[in-house]
Amino acid sequence: MNRVTRLFGIEYPIIQAGMIWASGWRLASAVSNAGGLGMLGSGSMYPEVLKEHIQKYKLASDKPFAVNIPLIYPDIEKHVAVIIDEKVPIVFTSAGNPKVYTGLLQSHGITVVHVVSSSKFAMKAQDAGCDAVVAEGFEAGGHNGREETTSMVLIPAVCEKVSIPVIAAGGIASGRQMLAAMVLGAEGVQVGSRFIASPEASSHDSFKQAIVNSGEGDTLLSLKKLTPVRLLKNRFFDAVQHAETSGATIEELTQLLGRGRAKKGMFEGDLHEGELEVGQVSALIKSIQPAAEILEDIWLEYSRLRALQH
Ligand SMILES: Cc1cc2nc3c(=O)[nH]c(=O)nc-3n(C[C@H](O)[C@H](O)[C@H](O)COP(=O)(O)O)c2cc1C
Repeated sequence: MNRVTRLFGIEYPIIQAGMIWASGWRLASAVSNAGGLGMLGSGSMYPEVLKEHIQKYKLASDKPFAVNIPLIYPDIEKHVAVIIDEKVPIVFTSAGNPKVYTGLLQSHGITVVHVVSSSKFAMKAQDAGCDAVVAEGFEAGGHNGREETTSMVLIPAVCEKVSIPVIAAGGIASGRQMLAAMVLGAEGVQVGSRFIASPEASSHDSFKQAIVNSGEGDTLLSLKKLTPVRLLKNRFFDAVQHAETSGATIEELTQLLGRGRAKKGMFEGDLHEGELEVGQVSALIKSIQPAAEILEDIWLEYSRLRALQH
């Protein structure tokens, strides 16, 4: 037991990250039923779809769960209303100002955690009253901080500045990596990429297989002028690189990105023209495994190695 397991009412301090086009009710309930914290990624859901996932989750599990809301989501107020209405116990907010919704959510008894990429933002989240922060390093899949601070530096930096519990994210897919994060001061870990490589993730099978097949150096930061995002290299990635090095304007990049790129890649499985968000750690992911097995693998390796330290 530590502050993170107590805060969420879970057995192991392992959190399955909220991820667009990957984490619906199947993945979240599999993780929570196995003793971790499962999370719905609402950033790719319409409010009525989010409601449906919450209701299906409740039929599949009576364990605590969370919903991730990127605060830049256009229909954010509708998402917040669904979350309050459905009595979601925990919310992870990201990509925005934590001051805006933290108080409102907490006044409904909801535990609020904010995702940060710097110790400056971590202090702002603490000042906004958040119950914990996720320190997400630059190696993470999805959108990254502009300062490019990696987990190895970010975790101790954030732990030094805040007194609320710190959950580490970015580059964690094994028990060894979890142990490293905990030694650096984190009290829990948020795992993203590895959980995509599970049958329960809602992503397309081709995307899952592409993660397993990928190697070191196959992901890089892209769309730096718009919103920096770590992508698996493919034809779409090359087109963005080419446009960026030829000095494309923000408007031209927005046009190149178009609509529905992420859905096309991660959900529909277009490995050439779609946007494929994944972390550097995909190079270490070797197989597609049930989510409960992933959780157990990480926890057992972590526990074994921690026992050796004493
Ligand atoms: C496909 C994908 C989608 C993601 N979507 C979101 C999201 O909607 N909101 C968010 O806060 N983070 C998102 N992330 C980041 C994760 O929540 C998590 O912090 C990150 O994956 C951790 O790093 P790792 O991939 O190295 O485990 C996403 C990551 C991936 C790989």
